[in-house]
Amino acid sequence: MKVGVIMGGVSAEREVSLLTGQEMMAHLDRSRYEVIPIVIEQRADLIRKVQAAGIDIALLALHGQYGEDGTVQGALETLGVPYTGSGVLASSLCMNKELAKMLLQAAGIRTPSGLCWQGMGDYDPQAVQRLGYPVIVKPNTGGSSIGTQLVMNEAELLDAVQEACKWDQSILVEPYIQGDELTCSILDGEALPIIGIRSAHSEWFDYKAKYEDGGAEEKVIKLPPVVEERVLAAALASYRLLQCSVYARVDMILQGDVPYVLEVNTLPGMTANSLLPKSAAAAGMSFSDLLDRIIACSLRERKREWEMSGYVNGRIG
Ligand SMILES: Nc1ncnc2c1ncn2[C@@H]1O[C@H](COP(=O)(O)OP(=O)(O)OP(=O)(O)O)[C@@H](O)[C@H]1O
Ligand SMILES: [Mg+2]
Repeated sequence: MKVGVIMGGVSAEREVSLLTGQEMMAHLDRSRYEVIPIVIEQRADLIRKVQAAGIDIALLALHGQYGEDGTVQGALETLGVPYTGSGVLASSLCMNKELAKMLLQAAGIRTPSGLCWQGMGDYDPQAVQRLGYPVIVKPNTGGSSIGTQLVMNEAELLDAVQEACKWDQSILVEPYIQGDELTCSILDGEALPIIGIRSAHSEWFDYKAKYEDGGAEEKVIKLPPVVEERVLAAALASYRLLQCSVYARVDMILQGDVPYVLEVNTLPGMTANSLLPKSAAAAGMSFSDLLDRIIACSLRERKREWEMSGYVNGRIG
């Protein structure tokens, strides 16, 4: 099977994507797959390079805009090339934290309830005062904590909002939920072991904590059974509600024994330091096993979706 590893891209998370791609390339089982690296430098590369490579499946190592947000998925659907991970709708929805959170709230899944501003024109310190400090300010469609800040008081607000606005047209101001940071990865509709995160030098999981060696301690945690049940239920309900498929990672803060869902990542990081491979390892799956599962499950999902939509002439049909 010819597997094209699609990586790079044009988002703020390009560097992380290249690391994810490298890691995938290093662990794909060469006895099963012919591996073709496809590095995206500009948007138009995708269609040209995928067509030229003649691949059987696109293994998506992209993160952020034009990669994780449904656009690349849509282009691959149009080409009839199967790809890994969630489909177009789930990808777009999860990329837009505000819309995803509205659905979560409507379904009774707890998520921090804050403000969504369309740029500096909506800047309103009084509204933040009513929310109560500290708050987290973040780009609505960001990732890897880029452009995100913890704001302790009004004096720090303007700078943080200006910074977040550099990365996105819309930004979120959320109450800072104090508690234990958790993440729950889901593979083929089933939860993998929950990982607890302790940032070494910060009150929250910032870029440095995510990607620098020793930036954070991330390990499988044992929760009291009732709490674990609640965390898993919130993660699985979010995954299903937002129509994710194949795999995803649900980021949460556990305050007391109540989980708050921060966001759902449809193409979570798969670098050497990343959380999903760690969680899979704890379930006894090597990185290579994980990639096998992702590829097999993606082929099955795409086939199912395309058959449902009357697609009959695809390469996997
Ligand atoms: N409301 C909140 N309360 C407490 N901490 C928060 C809140 N929102 C975000 N954070 C902190 O900021 C980090 C990044 O936030 P979030 O997961 O929403 O964004 P992201 O940049 O898309 O992350 P990822 O790298 O997972 O794509 C979280 O892991 C958490 O440490
Ligand atoms: Mg996150």
